[in-house]
Amino acid sequence: MAQIISGNIIARTIRQEVQSDVATYRKGKGRNPGLNLLLVGDNPASELYVKFKAKDCAEVGITSVIQRLPVTASQAEVLRCIEEWNANPDVHGILVQLPLPRHINEHVVLRHIDPAKDVDGFHPENAGKLLIGLPGFIPCTPAGVVEMLHRSGINPAGKHVAVVGRSNIVGKPLAMLLAQKRKGGNATVTMCHTGTSDLAHHTLRADILVAAAGVPEMITNQHVQPGAVVIDVGINRVQMHDGGSKVVGDVHFASVEPLASAITPVPGGVGPMTRAMLLVNTMFAAKGTFLSESR
Ligand SMILES: NC(=O)c1ccc[n+]([C@@H]2O[C@H](COP(=O)([O-])OP(=O)(O)OC[C@H]3O[C@@H](n4cnc5c(N)ncnc54)[C@H](OP(=O)(O)O)[C@@H]3O)[C@@H](O)[C@H]2O)c1
Repeated sequence: MAQIISGNIIARTIRQEVQSDVATYRKGKGRNPGLNLLLVGDNPASELYVKFKAKDCAEVGITSVIQRLPVTASQAEVLRCIEEWNANPDVHGILVQLPLPRHINEHVVLRHIDPAKDVDGFHPENAGKLLIGLPGFIPCTPAGVVEMLHRSGINPAGKHVAVVGRSNIVGKPLAMLLAQKRKGGNATVTMCHTGTSDLAHHTLRADILVAAAGVPEMITNQHVQPGAVVIDVGINRVQMHDGGSKVVGDVHFASVEPLASAITPVPGGVGPMTRAMLLVNTMFAAKGTFLSESR
């Protein structure tokens, strides 16, 4: 039986740590850390994610503000909002909920955020810092995966990690983090994608297999070597025969769990870690941890 790595439990501990960090910050500064969230349009999933983020903030004592703009908002309006927040010292962290409506250029918007307030870690400056090993904001999902490995006593150093997926928000930054010459890294990383000719050839050699492809249950027992650690980043809503729906990961849990030494569930695995790391990044922003490097 595999060890079930509970993101719910680890994230709860992290939230408690952030809560105590916030209390110390408030005592010293006389104010709360602040996170502003921008939601453009009425995508129901985005609405839900933003509400969860605000709820998480409230739980640990971070002040959050949700600014809603209509789906018809222009790119200039979005940029103006970000400029105001960049200049406001009470706004420590800025998050623009993605996806944006199609007429708004996501890259332009993300580049507009002050890198010192970029708690999602999507600004090219922070992405570049991650690549060359300088301190900066790390996107919440890869940061969460590394943190959950660390807190579960799984050291990637010297191990072969296969990451299935190369998106800018999950696969690529995670591969960079794990390959870095530092604690929590030092792994030999293979990044797989749709151009990979024989996926199983690579995943079967992995001591740690991370699935971040967005394809429901694509990783089966045919892809996993006995004793591997399996981290499932995927969150996919699938239809059931009775007309309802459920959320599954990218890993076929029932066939992989008996083989793995440790595995994350979906839900309750990487998802809660992502939410917790946003709080951690917001505290970094409030404390100005990366400020000197960002100016
Ligand atoms: N748990 C969380 O907090 C969290 C956070 C973010 C995302 N997610 C979930 O994680 C999954 C990935 O998200 P994402 O934003 O990274 O998705 P994405 O932008 O769609 O990227 C998916 C990546 O997987 C690769 N891929 C797709 N099908 C593949 C296949 N059959 N074989 C090999 N590689 C394949 C794609 O390759 P190409 O580059 O060649 O197209 C791409 O690089 C989704 O289910 C998403 O909902 C979860």
